[in-house]
Amino acid sequence: MQNILITGANRGLGLGFVKKFLKRNSKVFCTTRKISKSKELILLKKEFSKNLEVVELDLLEEESPKMLSDFLSNQAIDIFINNAGVIGNSNQSFNAVSSENWIDVLKVNLIAPLIITQSILANIKKSAHKKIYFLSSKVGSIEDNRGGGMYVYRSSKTALNQIVKSLSIDLKPIGISVISLHPGWVKTDMGGPHALISVEESVSGMLKVILNTDIRNSGQFLNYDGCEIPW
Ligand SMILES: NC(=O)c1ccc[n+]([C@@H]2O[C@H](COP(=O)([O-])OP(=O)(O)OC[C@H]3O[C@@H](n4cnc5c(N)ncnc54)[C@H](OP(=O)(O)O)[C@@H]3O)[C@@H](O)[C@H]2O)c1
Repeated sequence: MQNILITGANRGLGLGFVKKFLKRNSKVFCTTRKISKSKELILLKKEFSKNLEVVELDLLEEESPKMLSDFLSNQAIDIFINNAGVIGNSNQSFNAVSSENWIDVLKVNLIAPLIITQSILANIKKSAHKKIYFLSSKVGSIEDNRGGGMYVYRSSKTALNQIVKSLSIDLKPIGISVISLHPGWVKTDMGGPHALISVEESVSGMLKVILNTDIRNSGQFLNYDGCEIPW
């Protein structure tokens, strides 16, 4: 049985990952900002009481790294999916973008994922698998940027990719793989109703990628179908 850790698990892709891994009989540790509002997680907890552990965690709160580390105690974590993320204010075109809210987007999408990874590194080191995945986005690719705009969200994911690259180099000597994943344009609250694929399609694809990648792929930026995306 593998131990999986997923952030932002109450809806969207995070919830999709929780369901997929529970079906595979994995032990899932996950985070949500408010358990009482996480109806689907509450139902899943009833069904999979032994295999699902949920903790409240807000990445904007300074104590979140310690809270996560206390929650996991000395459990080994085989696969860590840094999924929680925000898109920021709706109009991010050059004429409309402002500094308002930008720092919070960077905190959630960029700074907190690295700091919480630091706080639970001991749990990952204990695993035989040692795999970390960050939910990035193709809009963070500099080479792929043909549309311009989206300053706040793009910059957060571009910088996240740089963190993934550094982390993949820093953690390679201790056998931990670190990979950036693009989930596709997915029908979630963030992706919206006009997105191209369902949560099921995206998470099924990413699960295959997760199961088929290891230290040899560390430092890559991968699409949900397994293809490499240019940085
Ligand atoms: N959907 C897409 O098309 C798409 C495309 C490319 C990349 N992505 C990336 O994939 C990941 C998941 O996206 P999604 O579409 O599933 O988004 P979503 O439906 O909007 O869900 C976002 C999740 O992140 C959590 N979250 C937000 N702020 C948080 C905070 N301060 N602390 C802790 N958790 C927080 C949310 O919790 P609350 O419910 O409490 O707000 C929710 O669980 C994100 O990193 C996103 O950038 C998505």
